[in-house]
Amino acid sequence: MSLSLSIHSTNLEALEADVLVLGVLKGSEGPYLAPNSLSEDSVEGINELLEALGASGDPDQLLRLPGLEDSGAGVVALAGLGSDQASGQERLDALRYAAGSASRQLAGSAEEIAFDFGLSAADEIEAVAHGAVLGNFIEEGLRGKTKDSIKEEIESVLIISSIDPEEAEPALVQALVLGETTKDARRLVNLPPSHLYPETFGEFAAELAEDYANVEVELFHYDRLVEEGFGGIAGVGQGSPRKPVLAVVKYVPENPQAHVALVGKGITFDSGGNSLKPAASMMTMKCDMAGAAAVLNAVVASAELEVPVAVTGYLCLAENMPGGHALRPEDVITMRDGRTVEVLNTDAEGRLVMADGIALASETKPDVILDIATLTGAAMAALGLRTAALLGDEQIRERVQVAGASAGESYWPMPLESHLRKNLNSQVADIKNIGSRYGGALTAGLFLKEFVGEGIPWAHLDIAGPAFNEEAPYGYTPKEGTGFGTATLVNFIQSYAK
Ligand code: BES
Ligand code: MN
Ligand code: ZN
Repeated sequence: MSLSLSIHSTNLEALEADVLVLGVLKGSEGPYLAPNSLSEDSVEGINELLEALGASGDPDQLLRLPGLEDSGAGVVALAGLGSDQASGQERLDALRYAAGSASRQLAGSAEEIAFDFGLSAADEIEAVAHGAVLGNFIEEGLRGKTKDSIKEEIESVLIISSIDPEEAEPALVQALVLGETTKDARRLVNLPPSHLYPETFGEFAAELAEDYANVEVELFHYDRLVEEGFGGIAGVGQGSPRKPVLAVVKYVPENPQAHVALVGKGITFDSGGNSLKPAASMMTMKCDMAGAAAVLNAVVASAELEVPVAVTGYLCLAENMPGGHALRPEDVITMRDGRTVEVLNTDAEGRLVMADGIALASETKPDVILDIATLTGAAMAALGLRTAALLGDEQIRERVQVAGASAGESYWPMPLESHLRKNLNSQVADIKNIGSRYGGALTAGLFLKEFVGEGIPWAHLDIAGPAFNEEAPYGYTPKEGTGFGTATLVNFIQSYAK
């Protein structure tokens, strides 16, 4: 069920909501209430109390007070908006974060909430709405006996503004679609590998597509993958009794202005295969399909928003398991483009499935290929858990960074150092799947680049860090799957329509 998002006039007496959220800014002389539509008396009254309430204006702080006489909300909540010096993109990020943190903390105890941050610009309203949708996330999971303790998400979010509601409509639609599809990606990532494996993922995509007249899904099952030369996907998946699937998800609008290809890593569980991971590193490896989840949901979002750009998503789905049928280190496989790969580490499986997806995408000569994958621990070591690594052609990288910035998702460029390429030279095959000890995220990028068709613009997004949150929730980000990348992909696709 999707949330209702709307604009409410600045007449707060007419408001009907459980909670009215106000902003608190950090100024040089201490915290103070951000602009809002309350009476001067009420604002003064709250400002005088801020210190005693312990209000700081810090992000993630949310204080609840009894409602005021001049607003029809039973509770007033004070949300930290951070520094009052923020402007431009920084201010939009702060608004998204604060609205998201408030809706995350209020979800489960409120049905209707209203934000009054004194906003009138459409981009600010979009940021607040986007955060509010993202923060409103309660994961039901697979509880049996403790099902009754599951709380309800917020049903309605009102944004108090003097803007003409019609003028704000496109911003609200964009925020809602980006937010809801990101949340759908999270739910897929959170599904355990017992329930989500290549066939069920492929089926899920096919069923989802039935809701859209211009979205089609084609599933390539194991025998066809072998027959048609997808040695990477078939090879990685051969160790599991649950066979691999390549799902091709196509959205074709009328008169498309461009064709964007998206390739997503869909390892539904990464044990490392015969190059087995240690137990502790295996523990989050249900998230290794987060790239494919982002791609699927970006295609759906494009259809929802009727973006005039054709999008083909390639979901490279396999379960990486050890065992008698699994790839061995030193095996050589033949990829979709005819190249042979010496597999020296079966835990470097992502690049194998992705290479086949990229090669197939290249055959259709799209205007651009983006690939997105939880590819390397090295990207996490370099950039931490909230920033994705971005490699590939400079112009595409810049476009991804811009798309990411307006989604609140951070990407940092890394170089495809050509001197590292020789480490991928193999004695027995065209290329091997691991390089030297250092620069692992770069080596993985160099490997993928080999499979990109000549002259096709390309970038690679390594989301190993930001795809999964093992730490405490913050802002609009919950524990576990984050849905990272979905919104960036949608903004990126839309950039080809302008
Ligand atoms: N799925 C992992 C990368 C990963 C690690 C994602 C942690 C999210 C969190 C990937 O398949 C992998 O195992 N990569 C290896 C590559 C190495 C063997 C060259 C790695 O990064 O250690
Ligand atoms: Mn691996
Ligand atoms: Zn992996």
